Amino acid sequence: MTQALTIHQNNIHLFFQMLEEHLGIALDHSKEYLVASRLAVIARSHNFKDHHALIQHLLVNPLGILHHQSFHAMTTNETMFFRDKYPFETLRTTIIPALIAKRRETKTLEIWCAAASTGQEPYSLAILLRENFPELYFWKIQLIATDISEPALTQARTGIYSETEVKRGLSEEQIKRHFKLLPSGQYEISSELKQMIRFESLNLVKDWPVMPKFDLILIRNVLIYFNAATKAKIFRKLRAQLADDGGCLLLGSSESILYDQSFKVQQEDRVSYYCKDLHKEMQR
Ligand SMILES: C[S@@+](CC[C@H](N)C(=O)[O-])C[C@H]1O[C@@H](n2cnc3c(N)ncnc32)[C@H](O)[C@@H]1O
Repeated sequence: MTQALTIHQNNIHLFFQMLEEHLGIALDHSKEYLVASRLAVIARSHNFKDHHALIQHLLVNPLGILHHQSFHAMTTNETMFFRDKYPFETLRTTIIPALIAKRRETKTLEIWCAAASTGQEPYSLAILLRENFPELYFWKIQLIATDISEPALTQARTGIYSETEVKRGLSEEQIKRHFKLLPSGQYEISSELKQMIRFESLNLVKDWPVMPKFDLILIRNVLIYFNAATKAKIFRKLRAQLADDGGCLLLGSSESILYDQSFKVQQEDRVSYYCKDLHKEMQR
């Protein structure tokens, strides 16, 4: 191995460490090609010789815009409306009716959609609530959607999607009912649905702002990128963030809580979700 190659390898390793420290995303060297190709695009647009030169710059300079751009280029924003379908069925048939029964007195619902990407997930939830639970029109519903990616949040806030994006997960009828076709050929979600959601920037691996206790938290298809210690820490914080009287947590279909006994696992069709178990919580 030449000396230059060793330095490059070492620098990539240090970049991985930096990425894990700031975003929690744990990559291994099998992803080197992907990382190199994504960084090469940023390197070109900022006139670096190549991605190695960019990495060198990132390693020796204080955290700045270029770091954030490079970190965010490593995230995957893949999402779609009503992704995986079944969790939304469980929300419709079981979770939301149970929450409505529990909050009938106060008529409030606090919901957090963490790692919401470009917004399809929280908008799916808003559509589900509007289409199936007319009584909620008269409730105070707080739906907060967060992500670390500013470009993703910007699109989410506009509520504007391409034809391909709306057709992934929504029926023709839902598109007609909830979207307006723009002269550009894109689709804009109704202002009524847009107003139901507050999109905020939040890094799951850093300190969280003060937030309410949530009746429902969706955190799907993001924990897979984190290492076990980071996941465990996030689960502890999620538990603290859930309403004590049985707040529920919904994960992605390939994710599960294996090591936290203070959640009661509920199984419904193909969907597992977790409710805060106050009894076990008090024994801790
Ligand atoms: C694959 S998308 C999942 C989107 C949506 N939850 C779904 O299941 O369709 C993963 C999202 O996690 C976000 N993300 C990655 N690391 C994050 C972090 N440390 N804090 C907050 N969001 C993060 C990415 O920006 C991306 O939008």
